[in-house]
Amino acid sequence: MTGRNSRVNQCQNPTGWLGRWVLRNMNSRHSKVTDWGLSRASIGKHDIILDVGCGGGRTVSKLAAIATQGKVYGIDHSTESVAMAMRTNKQWIDVARVEVREASVSRLPFSDGAFDVITAVETHFWWPALPTDLREVLRVLKPGGRLIIIAEVYKGAEAFTSKAAERYSEKTGMALLSVEEHRELFTDAGYSDVQLITEPRKGWICCIGSKAPVS
Ligand SMILES: C[S@@+](CC[C@H](N)C(=O)[O-])C[C@H]1O[C@@H](n2cnc3c(N)ncnc32)[C@H](O)[C@@H]1O
Repeated sequence: MTGRNSRVNQCQNPTGWLGRWVLRNMNSRHSKVTDWGLSRASIGKHDIILDVGCGGGRTVSKLAAIATQGKVYGIDHSTESVAMAMRTNKQWIDVARVEVREASVSRLPFSDGAFDVITAVETHFWWPALPTDLREVLRVLKPGGRLIIIAEVYKGAEAFTSKAAERYSEKTGMALLSVEEHRELFTDAGYSDVQLITEPRKGWICCIGSKAPVS
């Protein structure tokens, strides 16, 4: 595996010392885009929240600080990510405000309608079956609940990082989508009130979709 591919692979499924280094790095590097995306969606203090592909756990900490009377779950398919997210959130886990589990987005270990809000930061382009994975996420959302996907690259953005990611996507296996492809993805998976917010020069995208409330 080449240097570039092994680093990319660590973003998809972090392992070992390199994975720990990448996770620490992502905890700080993704902080600004995460704050930007989360500020676009109102999150309540009583909300029950799931962060999918939680990596090193910084987003889980941010969410626990917002939902002060709620609870935040993190899941990741990488054992290394789960271990680091648990270390990052030890103080919240000790008081049962946070739980982190090893799981894939394709098979979430939660019952139907469990969450008010589900977040996914810098992860969805690695999911193995995006359309069905989005339906699996929809299953565990409460009616009226929202999925918030945040990323710092998307197809068609002006930013250098987005253009580079687009150029190498065949090699890396990153499923980069344009704004309109994100809209279609959400709509086809059954989400309503879909909103797409972008910062083209930075390459940032925030996609929000709701599960229809029961009528
Ligand atoms: C680029 S990292 C982002 C981590 C974190 N969300 C952040 O913003 O720093 C992508 C994370 O998604 C996880 N991931 C990728 N595919 C996944 C899947 N199918 N199910 C669960 N987690 C997945 C990886 O293990 C990794 O921890």
